[in-house]
Amino acid sequence: MSNNSELHPIEKSLLRALVPNGHMSIEKLIEAANLSTDQVRRGIEWLKFKGLISSTDKSFTVISLGSRGQERLKEGLPERRLVNAVKEGNKTLTSILKNGLLKSDEINAAIAVAKRNRWIDLSQFQTSDKVILLAASAADNLSEEEKLLQKLLVQNKMETSELSAEERKALDLLRRRPDYIVEEEKKHSEIILSDAGKKIIGSGFADEATMERSLTPEIITTGNWKNVNFSSIDVIAPTPAFYPGRQHPLMDIIDEVKEIFVSLGFTEIDGPITQSGFWNFDALFTPQDHPAREMQDTFYISGITQDSFATSSQIQRISDVHKEGWRYDWNIDEAKRMVLRTHTTSVTIRYLADNKPESARVFSIGRVFRNEKVSYKHLVEFNQIEGILTARRATLRDLMGLQQEFYAKLGIKKIKFWPTFFPYTEPSLQSMIYNNELDKWVEMGGMGIFRPEVTQPLGLDNPVLAWGVGIERIAMLRFGLDDVRDLYGNNLRWLRSLPKCQL
Ligand code: PHE
Repeated sequence: MSNNSELHPIEKSLLRALVPNGHMSIEKLIEAANLSTDQVRRGIEWLKFKGLISSTDKSFTVISLGSRGQERLKEGLPERRLVNAVKEGNKTLTSILKNGLLKSDEINAAIAVAKRNRWIDLSQFQTSDKVILLAASAADNLSEEEKLLQKLLVQNKMETSELSAEERKALDLLRRRPDYIVEEEKKHSEIILSDAGKKIIGSGFADEATMERSLTPEIITTGNWKNVNFSSIDVIAPTPAFYPGRQHPLMDIIDEVKEIFVSLGFTEIDGPITQSGFWNFDALFTPQDHPAREMQDTFYISGITQDSFATSSQIQRISDVHKEGWRYDWNIDEAKRMVLRTHTTSVTIRYLADNKPESARVFSIGRVFRNEKVSYKHLVEFNQIEGILTARRATLRDLMGLQQEFYAKLGIKKIKFWPTFFPYTEPSLQSMIYNNELDKWVEMGGMGIFRPEVTQPLGLDNPVLAWGVGIERIAMLRFGLDDVRDLYGNNLRWLRSLPKCQL
């Protein structure tokens, strides 16, 4: 049983509003307590939980004017038109019909009702077809039916429970006339103050005015907090969901990956998105007729070539290595063509060429571009991360160990390696990780040790371990997506549903 100091101001307002009647519909409660619908609904849940109120579903009937009722009200009900006609001097049915004051199918019913209302007097007959009608003085009064119809015209809708005994009778009569009245069955929740609720109200609430609900900088700096009486706040009470602006989940993953690299002793490097073919392909020992270099796979930037992309000795050595290794005449014009980088390995290789480190751990993250058909698996533009480690005795085993460490920090424990091919590494491996949800192994990234054809022309003596992986792959796995396009769909519901962090 709660005591009243634990009651929230919303709860107190609701209880107060319930006092006069002991019960109320939710709609009325919203008005009476002067709170928002949402606040009232929440407050009701809390009070119910505390046993201070209960609720029952109550059904009720709402009546309004039907189409025919509306029409008749305008032109006069048939019985009203009948007495009016009589008053105007039409004493026989024949003359009323002849003058078009009532239709023949209306007249019998009109007579019956007018008679019931004591509006006409049929006591004096002449012949059977020439009935003399005498309007009685009571004909000046509105009938109960007319009164109810008028009232409905003004009020639009009435609940049958609000009708007086006369109105109820009128309603019964009107029900016999098709389309005069529309009746709708409705339901609402009636909130009822429980005995415990009454008791708590009886004990009196703490005075709201002297209770402080928010802690402001002023209260702290003025030292006023010592005197203020703070009302307690239920920090685990359910509240409406609040969606502030947030970083895109993909950016969260990028941050997380950066964090992992840094924790493993790596430093971030960066490089341009556009590259000469030289650094994207040639320096990586990718032959000039390699299918990856074709227009279908790579975006070339038309009309732009880069003349001073490397030193003449770098160009000479790369040319020699291609000639010797691939046995063709290396064409410098191909190397000058500008591309949207197809992988972050172009950033890696430029870093190595510029810095010739004996040992280093660096990584880069950035967008790469491939001329693919967009599908659930592929985008033309995605993000790649790439790590490299160079050291005198770096081995393939170190590279695999690093992968294990890297993926473990992402929460991925089951990993295996598969031999594969890249023109620039030997040996080359593909990492596969186990997707628990799909219950299968999925390809993650490529890796290997740079070939001497790559390292020697640039003057690098130590082995270079390198690996690259798509960020979107990691994100899909993390968020359980099977379509990469979902990451870029800006589906608000999905974006909001993702937790900012996993507890
Ligand atoms: N560049 C490769 C890719 O885009 C990945 C890779 C990076 C492979 C470094 C080996 C070494 O798939």
